[in-house]
Parts: sequence; structure tokens; C-alpha cells
Amino acid sequence: MAKKKIKSAFFCQNCGAQSPKWLGRCTTCKEWDTFVEENISTETSGVSSKGIFKKHKPILINDISSIKEERISLEDQELNRVLGGGIVPGSVTLLGGDPGIGKSTLLLQLSLNILNKKILYVSGEESEYQIKMRCDRINKSSKSCYILTETLIDNIFSEIEKINTDIVIIDSVQTIQTSNIESSPGSVSQIRECCAEIIKYAKYTGISFFLIGHINKDGAIAGPKILEHMVDTVLQFEGDRNNIYRILRSVKNRFGSSSEIGVYEMTQLGLREVNNPSEILISIRDENISGASIAATIEGERPIMIEIQALVSSAVYGTPQRSSTGYNLRRLNMLLAVLEKKCGFRLGVKDVFLNITGGIRIDDTAIDLAVICSILSSDQEKPIDMHTCFAAEIGLSGEVRPVSRVEQRIAEAEKLGYKQIIISKYNKFNSKLFKIDIKKMSRIEEVFQLLF
Ligand code: TYD
Ligand code: MG
Repeated sequence: MAKKKIKSAFFCQNCGAQSPKWLGRCTTCKEWDTFVEENISTETSGVSSKGIFKKHKPILINDISSIKEERISLEDQELNRVLGGGIVPGSVTLLGGDPGIGKSTLLLQLSLNILNKKILYVSGEESEYQIKMRCDRINKSSKSCYILTETLIDNIFSEIEKINTDIVIIDSVQTIQTSNIESSPGSVSQIRECCAEIIKYAKYTGISFFLIGHINKDGAIAGPKILEHMVDTVLQFEGDRNNIYRILRSVKNRFGSSSEIGVYEMTQLGLREVNNPSEILISIRDENISGASIAATIEGERPIMIEIQALVSSAVYGTPQRSSTGYNLRRLNMLLAVLEKKCGFRLGVKDVFLNITGGIRIDDTAIDLAVICSILSSDQEKPIDMHTCFAAEIGLSGEVRPVSRVEQRIAEAEKLGYKQIIISKYNKFNSKLFKIDIKKMSRIEEVFQLLF
């Protein structure tokens, strides 16, 4: 056997930058104290990469026949939509999320639900028995799903060839390793090298891969950031562990929209799809309460109704507190400044707490109007009628601004039985299509006059 020369280098654990010597601060991502020494072998060509990669020649773009991509459609409609309409052959998808959120459960369910394709579930974290226990728990079985507990990437590739699989799930990238590199599994250089090999392999063979990735305390996928650039799709599984609802968000998608979300409920029998998320995001109540308002928002392709709750109370300390869950704090501060300046509300001496129910995070500016209405409703102790909802953005001078795809928002509100929707006067659409009472406003003062 040829003797390998062992070389070591320092890697930034945050972004994956490499340096021949230790640095206190990474020159690429500017993070402090992130460099760790890792052994790398000078031999680059591994067993797995031998023989399967042929030389490519340039082809004229017009000569490339456009094949209609045949996606593998999934039974799980939420995942199907988040992926952009099914699994693309040869694609590599990275799924990140907090420990215990349900990543393994989601992909095991996916493996057991596809019956006409061969699937290999590779686990470096659990034994066969533990996975079987989980299958029993979710009460599913399958004749085409194989389980492999292996961590060496070359062995995984040879098993894939033996079984001739269509889809491979790797749980997790932090546990697999390649023999080309001496450093331990989970280190930046191992993750990067393994991923690069998987991507090359997937593109060459047309097998689709799903990789589970752990996330670090900042919420980013542990390992080099370039991992996210390398793969085709990055999905994030999020939610409060104490809450039963989980949200699958697409962060990057080469084959579909990147703003799509899927909603699940964690039950005793595994994850259940929630096809109508508006139902769970709005708290069930019989009477009007102050500080709550409903906004019509759009996540990806789908309109959903969400509830915003605000609490305004007298500040106990000198500096008032502002806290926001599920909504951008800076935007909240901006809206408070607009309220103070334009409407004369003295919110500077008040604490303001804002919460979007259901543990969902919303970046859509169309919920601005609902946010300020809920704040004022709490401040004035006057409830907003629970059959009223909002869809408008607020400008810095207090104007009510139009939002995109307003028809879809109104249609959703009408479908869910709301009686009134408040939007901007400048939104152009055919209002004859709707039976719901549409109120068109141009300034926030008008909205307040109508409500309070
Ligand atoms: P898991 O998929 O192991 O999480 P991850 O792979 O992201 O670390 O999910 C584990 C959690 O899900 C655990 O706290 C138990 C819970 N769970 C259920 O509530 N019901 C079920 O049917 C299953 C399989 C798990
Ligand atoms: Mg797991």
C-alpha cells in the first residue's frame, strides 16, 4: 500500500476557510476564535471517485435536447410543494433543524411512503433496531426501503450500487466520513469532502440524495457555509419543541420557489400534514379580545391567515421594552415610530410585546397594518371585531400601501368566513368578484377612525 503523506491545516468552523496556520480571526467571515487544526491527506483521489467520472466535452446549447424533468411525486403534499413539485432525479437536498425537531422522522416517513422506488436510508446515528422501533411507532412498513448503518462513504456508495437505489437518505452528514481525509467525522474538512463526493456521485448517477444536517446554536447548518452553496436545495425544519406544530421552510431551491413552507403536526403516530394552516394559526375564541388582529399573508404560493397579538403596558423601567416573536424587531420599532410621530400616540413610555401565534415567522410586509392595529387595540383596550382582517403595508409617513397578490389574500379571507378586509386604496383589482366587505384606505388615521 502506498504510504500516505499526512498534512494538517486549520479550518474555520464557521465558514470553512482554510489556512496553513492558526488565525485568531477568520479573514473570510470575520468570526473570532473559530480555527481548528484538522488532518488532511495529500492524496486526493479516493476509491469512490475512481472510474466513475468521465471527461466531458463542450456542447452547443442548442444541441442539448431539453428533457422534461420527471419528478418523483410524493404522497406527502407539504414536502412535495416545498420541493417545487416532487423530487428531481440527481438532486441533493440538505435538511437542517434543531435536535429532536423531527428530521429523522420526516425522512423516514418519506422513505416508507414511496412504494415504487428503491430507497436506502443510511443512518450513522441510530441502530437498525432503533429505526425499526420508529417505523413501528409511526405504524408503517415498506417492501422497498432498505436500512444501512454505515458511516464510511465508500462503503455507502458500493451498497447503493449493489441494491440499485433511486433515493438515498443520509442521517446525518456530520456522522459520515471519507477515507481520503484523516480528520474526524463532523469536522469541516470531512463534511465538505463527503458532500462534494455525494454531489458528484448524484449528478453522475441520477440518484437523489437527502442529507440531514445538524445546526449550531446560531441556527445555521453546522459545518462550512459553502455546503449550502454546493447542494441544490436547502430545507430548514423549525418550530418550538414544546409546540406540536413544525414548519418546513425552503431556504434555497434550484428547482422551485424558495419561499414555500410546509406545515406539520407532531403526533403520537409521527408527523401529520396540515393542509390548511390558517386553522391552526388562529386561536379559537368566541368573543372579541383586545390586542389581537388577523392578517392575510402569503407564504410561497399559498395565502394563509395569521393572528397577531400585542400587549402594551406601562414601562416599569426607564427604557421601555420591545419584544417580538415571529416578526422583525426593527420593523416593529419603525412602525412604533410612525405611530408616535403621525398619530400622536405616546408609546415611548410603554412596553410593547408582539407575538405571532403558532410559532411561525413572517417576513411579509403586508401584515404591517394588522401589527399596528393590534398594538393600538391593546393600548386603547378596545377589541377589533374578530371577523375583520387586514392586508396592507405601512409607509414611513403613515400611508396605507398596496400589497402584492391582493386577490388571493381576499379570496382566502372570504373562504374562511371573514366579513371585512381592510386594504390599501391603491390596490387595483376587480372587487366585483368578492362578496366580502372590502374597505379601501389611504391613511392609518382613517383605519383607526373606522375601528376605534
Ligand atoms: P427525531 O426525528 O428523532 O428528531 P431529529 O432527527 O430532528 O433529531 O424526532 C424526535 C422527536 O419526535 C422526539 O422528541 C419524539 C418525537 N416523536 C413523536 O412525538 N411522535 C412520533 O411518532 C415520533 C417518531 C417521534
Ligand atoms: Mg435524528
